[in-house]
Amino acid sequence: MFRIESKIDPASAEFLQNKTEFMKILEKYKETLGTIRQGGPAAAIKRHKERGKLLARERIDLLIDKNTPFIELSPLAAFDMYKNEFPSAGIVTGIGVIHGKETMIIANDATVKGGTYVKESIKKHVRAQEIAKENRLPCVYLVDSGGVFLPEQANVFPDKYDFGRFFFNQARLSAMGIPQIAVVMGSCTAGGAYVPAMSDETIIVRNQGTIFIGGPPLVKAATGEEVTAEELGGAEVHTSISGVADHLAENDIHAIQICRNIFESIHRHEHQELEIHEAVDPYYDPEELYGILPVDLKKAVDSREIIARIIDGSLFHEFKERYAPTLVTGFARIMGYPIGILANNGVLFSETSLKGAHFIQLCTSRKIPILFLQNITGFIVGKQYEHGGIARDGAKFVHAVANADVPKFTIIFGGSFGAGNYAMAGRAYEPRFLFMYPNAKISVMGGEQAANVLITVKEEQLKAAGKTMSEEEIDHLRNTILKKYEDEGSAYFSTARLWDDGIIDPVDTRKIIALSIAISQNKFYEKTNFGIFRM
Ligand code: COA
Repeated sequence: MFRIESKIDPASAEFLQNKTEFMKILEKYKETLGTIRQGGPAAAIKRHKERGKLLARERIDLLIDKNTPFIELSPLAAFDMYKNEFPSAGIVTGIGVIHGKETMIIANDATVKGGTYVKESIKKHVRAQEIAKENRLPCVYLVDSGGVFLPEQANVFPDKYDFGRFFFNQARLSAMGIPQIAVVMGSCTAGGAYVPAMSDETIIVRNQGTIFIGGPPLVKAATGEEVTAEELGGAEVHTSISGVADHLAENDIHAIQICRNIFESIHRHEHQELEIHEAVDPYYDPEELYGILPVDLKKAVDSREIIARIIDGSLFHEFKERYAPTLVTGFARIMGYPIGILANNGVLFSETSLKGAHFIQLCTSRKIPILFLQNITGFIVGKQYEHGGIARDGAKFVHAVANADVPKFTIIFGGSFGAGNYAMAGRAYEPRFLFMYPNAKISVMGGEQAANVLITVKEEQLKAAGKTMSEEEIDHLRNTILKKYEDEGSAYFSTARLWDDGIIDPVDTRKIIALSIAISQNKFYEKTNFGIFRM
């Protein structure tokens, strides 16, 4: 492989200016993350601790093997929603290693409205189970939840991917031989009772964990029976009378130890072999990404400059370097793992689409995972291109991406607009993980384009009625749309709604992608079958 020759001068004024602006964006993100990670209000945290309970993230720290990383997913879920009363949507999810096995951990944060679920908490829980299924990861549920956040019931209760999906998923995952372990460290009420009840093995903490289909107030209202929570469904009851739980723990730490012990008898089923080399640092410093990444999306960035700061030794075997230059394709290694990379360098043309589809076929036939680096305004428009069959060639690319059955990973490092999002493995194309950089933007088209389209549509409507719009009306419409697209296109807006798996610091890309590939090895890479390519 050849080393990418960078054309960037890290001492140039342009680089330094970009870096200054990027650092502001990054600091805002880190500050926001720091605040969110504290969990619920101070009074709720204090009360939680006074009850002798550990916080959700403290529980996870103790559960995973010492000195191993935890990839936390979507920590900014529900950000800027519900008056910011649901930090992280009240649930911490992510992948950690327990006794050497990569495991999906789903932990309620009881300091956030009693660990109850709003729409985004549900999406996060279901997404975590989906990742567990795609990568065959055992699941540990650290349960401490009042169930559905009742005022939001219409958004969380009845639909296919709502609350009921948790238990459906547990049953299906268990049937696939993917272990399901619950640790009851607080409340498990109503539907929530099924999390431990549906698990393969369940631990419950004395004088702290409770499991019941209906709590004491409901029982009193329904039957008149007066009973305490502990008598109704505490740890003593469930480990010695009902048998709903299997292990009695004295406190959080003890429960976590029992959970770790369970993992001693859990074995890996299968493992996809990959040729792994010794990891080598990139030749170019990854921190230089801060001076290169597009803060202003109008600025063109050669994506090779990004690739050079992500891959081992900055060594890249570029495929079709001279053909269809708006899509860079090639093979490389990230921390020793093999990877095929597709990165945007402009709009997608017919030939770009063919090049992308061809490269994906190479990756699937060689069973090499694929990394998509998105910075895309979309497919080319215009009479010449429509006549040339851009839709037909674009369809080949989209076909290839949709059917590629090797693990796909997507990072949005700039803009993600229109059908370009789809072709480059956006969320709907099931990349195993999708992360955004804090400067990234995502929407159906750019704000200015959307404003122009809508102004044209309005003007045509009025023209048909013999009317026109004044300059002020046009300006007002334009500014309203620009503002809406600016707000809704931000990485924060996306991550709050679980359109991605989280915002990441660009310098962590290597570590996160390498871990993602390692996680993907828990399931054999399937043989890809492509559908009909329109020729
Ligand atoms: N829906 C909406 N809000 C809920 C809730 C629910 N199911 N359960 C708790 N809350 C809210 C409380 O109103 C309170 O809000 P506030 O901080 O704005 O006052 C906050 O969550 C914390 O609840 P609190 O009862 O003060 O905390 P706790 O730690 O002593 O008890 C629970 C937590 C979950 C054990 C207890 O609140 C409870 O039993 N809730 C009802 C559970 C239930 O019946 N769920 C059925 C859902 S299907």
